[in-house]
Amino acid sequence: MNIAVIYGGDKCIPGNVIYETPNTRPWKSYEAVARDIAGALERVGFRSVHVLPDDMSLGDELRKRAIHFAWLNTGGIQGYNPMAHGPAMLEMFGVPYVGHDPLTTSILDNKPLFKREAESLGLKTSPFITWHLARGPFEPERNTHFKNVFAGYDGPLVVKPASGRASLHVHVVDDWKDTSAVVEQVFHATQNHVIIERFLPGREFCVAIGGPVTARNRELQVGCKPFAFSPTERVLESDERIFTSMDQKPISTSRLRLLTRDTEPELIARLEEIALEVYLGLNLETLTRLDLRMAEDGELYILEANPKPDLKMPKGDKISLVCAGLAEHGMDYDDLVLSLLADRIDLLFCQRRGTVHHLQTLFEQQ
Ligand SMILES: Nc1ncnc2c1ncn2[C@@H]1O[C@H](COP(=O)(O)OP(=O)(O)OP(=O)(O)O)[C@@H](O)[C@H]1O
Ligand SMILES: [Mg+2]
Repeated sequence: MNIAVIYGGDKCIPGNVIYETPNTRPWKSYEAVARDIAGALERVGFRSVHVLPDDMSLGDELRKRAIHFAWLNTGGIQGYNPMAHGPAMLEMFGVPYVGHDPLTTSILDNKPLFKREAESLGLKTSPFITWHLARGPFEPERNTHFKNVFAGYDGPLVVKPASGRASLHVHVVDDWKDTSAVVEQVFHATQNHVIIERFLPGREFCVAIGGPVTARNRELQVGCKPFAFSPTERVLESDERIFTSMDQKPISTSRLRLLTRDTEPELIARLEEIALEVYLGLNLETLTRLDLRMAEDGELYILEANPKPDLKMPKGDKISLVCAGLAEHGMDYDDLVLSLLADRIDLLFCQRRGTVHHLQTLFEQQ
């Protein structure tokens, strides 16, 4: 099976796009992580793994290399809802992939859209409004929606991009009268909707969830439900109100604490329960990482759901949120990569047989 691991193309390289447009989601190539994933695929036995950018050449490259299957590790090259461009192209080409479909990717990567879905499932998320400067400057004192949503609340607000990553352009605003200028700043950085929400002052957590097929020591097994794992606390320093971007400070063991079932079983159970509700409620079909924060009342509120959580291979002190808890399930990084691939192939063969005739032919030839 010829596999392509796809990372974000660079719009500045001539020929990669027809016209350059702004990046509504801060751009990153994710190439290094794509190479980590490719390395794991090779170690578990795949002999033909290609690492490719998702630019205008993608279709030709996939055809030239006779790619049967792809792994999306891209946030897109430019434009609106860029995370959905990779899966949309692959749907068009008919190449199956590990990754969320275009609609699910767009919902998860757009914080207001995801929050509305979460609310409709009865899950808690911080009260919010959105603003776009096409509607004029943001004027909280005249904005009825703002007044309704934050009635009786005088605490800090968070202003951040509708679609962001790595805590970039996330601001805490203590006085609501200052929101206007910050909304303008975030809008100018992203050219996209800005979200204004209540600041959650408590502890911060992450939990990962994927499909029911997992590999332990390279042996596949099918669980009875989606697999929630790596419940971790993002440890904030005393002067840190928002978790500093991993672009500025690597996520090391001192900044991340794996929750243990001996000391905090109820908290872990609640995190896993929320993750399962999101996975089933939104019909998710592959790896997602939820970020959550506690409010004053001790309740967990979902900040966001990441459709392409970081899959960097753990090395020394540098760890990734998703991989932190693999050992307690008897898994390592290569097992996780094999799990995600096998789970997707299982799903395609069980639920979308019409999309995998070429894989069926390939397997029959073995
Ligand atoms: N409403 C909020 N209350 C408190 N802190 C918040 C809130 N929204 C965001 N933050 C802080 O900002 C960080 C980044 O926010 P968020 O997770 O929404 O966006 P992101 O940039 O996509 O994050 P990531 O780094 O996980 O990709 C969070 O980890 C959290 O520390
Ligand atoms: Mg986050």
